[in-house]
Amino acid sequence: MKPITVFRGDGIGPEITDAVLTILNEVKAPFTYEIFEVGEKEYHSHGALIPPQAFASFEKTKLLLKAPITTPIGCGFRSLNVLLREKYNLFANIRPAKSTPAIKTPFSHVDIITFRENTEDLYIGVEYNMDADTIHAIKKITKKACLRIINAAYQYAQKHQRKKITCVHKANILKKSDGLFLECFNTIAKEYPHIQSDTKIIDNLCMQLVMKPDEFDILVMPNLYGDIVSDLTSGLIGGLGLLPSMNIGDDYALFEAVHGSAPDIAGKHIANPTALLLSACLLLDHTNHNDIAEQIRTAIQHVLKNTTIRTPDIGGTATTEEYTQAIIRALAHN
Ligand code: NAI
Repeated sequence: MKPITVFRGDGIGPEITDAVLTILNEVKAPFTYEIFEVGEKEYHSHGALIPPQAFASFEKTKLLLKAPITTPIGCGFRSLNVLLREKYNLFANIRPAKSTPAIKTPFSHVDIITFRENTEDLYIGVEYNMDADTIHAIKKITKKACLRIINAAYQYAQKHQRKKITCVHKANILKKSDGLFLECFNTIAKEYPHIQSDTKIIDNLCMQLVMKPDEFDILVMPNLYGDIVSDLTSGLIGGLGLLPSMNIGDDYALFEAVHGSAPDIAGKHIANPTALLLSACLLLDHTNHNDIAEQIRTAIQHVLKNTTIRTPDIGGTATTEEYTQAIIRALAHN
């Protein structure tokens, strides 16, 4: 049994974590769980946003299944998500957006994986007051970080027989920083002549993704663009409730939904647990339990295709618990 660290998060985090752990127990995933409360509530009750035992657990297990955590806007503490990615050098944020046949969207064959650089760019959070009315924010781009995310994208493409990689940038304006990202891409692309390599300026990419998403395969880009573009790709497949992600470094791996803590629906028991469940499937793949991951993915497809049981974000009226139970029944039929 492999120990896995679990952060229940806040907002809808606890609701979807409970749903996912129920399903993982149902399929007898060969894991044990070290479960922690994190976030603002934990800070007010015990004085730390992430308790030291939670860090220690992740440092031991090296695998974290994480629910979303709220980040205050415009003030307050720095994002715990950014902190975790930096602290554990989780440099590759991989976000696969794949159409689900049962979810009606304008395009039925979207299969786009965003590789987002995860450790630098504007997310280093360095902002200076130049005078009372002027703020400068620092965008940090290093050759080392560019090369490792671009290499990760090509290695993934090679391993999974993906055909094309598009580098997304704004080097026409940010000539030095995005220029460096583009230069690194062009250098590495030469090492993979059998994979089609393409470059797109971010604004043009957004228009083309909406008009003809089936022309894109793997996208690789700096941190901020990756954050925004991956939400766009979630819209192409039916919404944020469906998009999983993994954050990979040399030593650690963190699996989480792309969406946030959804405070607008927290506590209403209508959150869609699919994105976190599919993230748990990525964790199962990562630990060589692809068969169990496929069992869960098949059960999700079965429920969405053959029943009307779905959460409101994807057009249904089911609660999180009703949807979870429907997946459990589908698992029994597989
Ligand atoms: P959000 O992703 O939480 O919500 C955006 C919209 O999508 C909302 O209408 C929400 O109800 C809906 N939504 C999201 N996930 C859903 C789900 N599973 N089922 C049904 N509907 C869902 O984005 P928002 O509102 O911008 O951020 C809320 C908080 O989450 C902020 O504090 C933000 O910093 C934090 N956040 C945390 C992340 C993480 O922990 N990795 C990632 C993104 C945001």
